[in-house]
Amino acid sequence: MKFVVNYEKYLANINHPLSFKIHEFEDIFDNTNKKKCELKVMTNSLAHIAIAVENIENAKSLFELITGGIASENHQVESQKVSTSFINFGGTSIELLEPVGDDTPISKFLSQKGGGIHHLCIETDEFDNLIEKIKNTGVRILGDPFIGAKNKRVVFFHPKDTFNVLIELEEK
Ligand code: CO
Repeated sequence: MKFVVNYEKYLANINHPLSFKIHEFEDIFDNTNKKKCELKVMTNSLAHIAIAVENIENAKSLFELITGGIASENHQVESQKVSTSFINFGGTSIELLEPVGDDTPISKFLSQKGGGIHHLCIETDEFDNLIEKIKNTGVRILGDPFIGAKNKRVVFFHPKDTFNVLIELEEK
């Protein structure tokens, strides 16, 4: 996302506790040759928190009650051998994950940990750019980006490199 702002105002507010981080800016000039500043900002948000369950149908009603949302139809992601349902609430979602078959990442997670929070997903409009920046810090990427449950490009990072939290990045 790009914002064009008044350059002096930008400089005056440079330490303002903005909720987003300016990651690029360039000087531009308007038609009176007055200097303005074009900012590119990342407007990332929490897309969902994913919870691994043995059976999505059994979990839906409780999470609907807790969140006040309505669970979506189940959607299968073939490449990950997982069935998913999203419950939207308060500007974010809970993603329920149920393994499809044995010997899948989610079935392993369930047998090892008994279920619970599996990953959190941050959505970004700077998908490729942000992947590069994260990789440049030394964080390993788990495979190439693929098409996730919402038909958007997603990628996961190695949880050992991200404080033992599995993080998914999703393109907005
Ligand atoms: Co997810």
